[in-house]
Amino acid sequence: MEGFWVLGGEKIQGEARLDGAKNAVLPILAAALLPQGDTLIRDCPDIRDVHAMAAILGKLGCRCQWRAGEMRISNQGLKHWEMPDEMSKQIRSSIFLLGPILGKLRKATVTYPGGCEIGLRPIDLHLKGLRALGVVIREDGGVIECDGQNMRAGDVYFDYPSVGATENVMMAAALLPGRTTIHNAAREPEVKDLQGFINAMGGRVRGAGTQVVQIEGVSRLRGCEYTPIPDRICAGTLLCAGAVTGGEIRLTNTRPGDLLPVTDKLREMGCLVSEGASVLTLQAPQRLRAFAQLRTQPHPGFPTDMQAQMLAVSCVAEGTSVIVENVFENRLTHVADLCRMGADIRVSGRTAVVRGVESLRGARVTARDLRGGAALVLAALAARGESLVEHAELVDRGYARLEQTLSRLGAKIQRQELDD
Ligand code: UD1
Repeated sequence: MEGFWVLGGEKIQGEARLDGAKNAVLPILAAALLPQGDTLIRDCPDIRDVHAMAAILGKLGCRCQWRAGEMRISNQGLKHWEMPDEMSKQIRSSIFLLGPILGKLRKATVTYPGGCEIGLRPIDLHLKGLRALGVVIREDGGVIECDGQNMRAGDVYFDYPSVGATENVMMAAALLPGRTTIHNAAREPEVKDLQGFINAMGGRVRGAGTQVVQIEGVSRLRGCEYTPIPDRICAGTLLCAGAVTGGEIRLTNTRPGDLLPVTDKLREMGCLVSEGASVLTLQAPQRLRAFAQLRTQPHPGFPTDMQAQMLAVSCVAEGTSVIVENVFENRLTHVADLCRMGADIRVSGRTAVVRGVESLRGARVTARDLRGGAALVLAALAARGESLVEHAELVDRGYARLEQTLSRLGAKIQRQELDD
């Protein structure tokens, strides 16, 4: 096991550039199964989930070549429709492969996907969406067998705007003759980016970013080069690092509009945030103020993927902050470790009430999921003394060598090999 050793108390200061967004790149890699010809993804983040996805594509018969921040995918060898069991358990986004495999080969077998331990994360909406396109699905002992011989375009209604289910249906329908309409679609920027990618391959998708997405199936997609949108969650995490340490940070290659819910809260806490076309700067006050309430919601509400980090920041703000996690049912597991560091947090169901303390103290803590792990690193940056955040590999799922990024910004942080 690896961990992050952190000596807190240093201000985070300086400039960082964002890579492509994990949550944009993962479905884009899945959609790279669809075209005839190679695709090249630029600004591809060097994170574990991306390499895990590339490994799954490799098992399906594709060739994925990673070089200096670019991923080339050749899918000529695609012949398997069964997703490798062990690998799909590693990342939840393996479920995204159902749509494109079905779209291309008209059959698919997948085991129940894995991912962060942040809730039940069922896949009923994915399956409902595919059934609406005529896919016949049999579930047996954790294995899901899909028969797409009679697939056809159609109307899909989601009773919750699931990001993954929306993307899966977009990919399944891209090559289906006729018009597929998704009602109550997820509106996340990454969904819109998938539309951008499918259209760059010659597809005809519109409406992504609104509640209704329309896909006109085309007979063929071609390979392309594509640069995904920058990672708004990594950007938000770095802004939080600046805020919690009383620092000053400048981010380039960002899309400030995608970060509004986060920058709005940071402003409420007393930070000075200024926005350019692709640049964001944050200057933290001497002492942060608590925010009244933060409720996670589907986009354009506050992103659940930033809840843990904002919770960590609120631990040292003056006053009481209230956080309600509405998207996932088990996404407050970082609270116990933050309390070990001296935070004052009460949890009742999905609500956390944080009474800000003057300062946190370093401790040995355990990352339990990707964003919760990042939150513990943020707390450690602000804490007095040394901390050890166990299970760096969970953080590596979504951040490329976080310790190097933070070191360059002035943090005292190192990766360490730990005994299991
Ligand atoms: C994506 C993101 C993840 C983010 C989440 C919400 C990727 C790779 N991951 O995950 O980082 O936290 O959006 O913004 O893009 N649900 C069901 N049935 C389903 C599908 C989802 O009940 O079939 C529930 C989930 O359990 C959860 C909620 O819907 O409570 C949101 O899930 P969803 O929007 O699907 O998130 P993901 O696509 O898994």
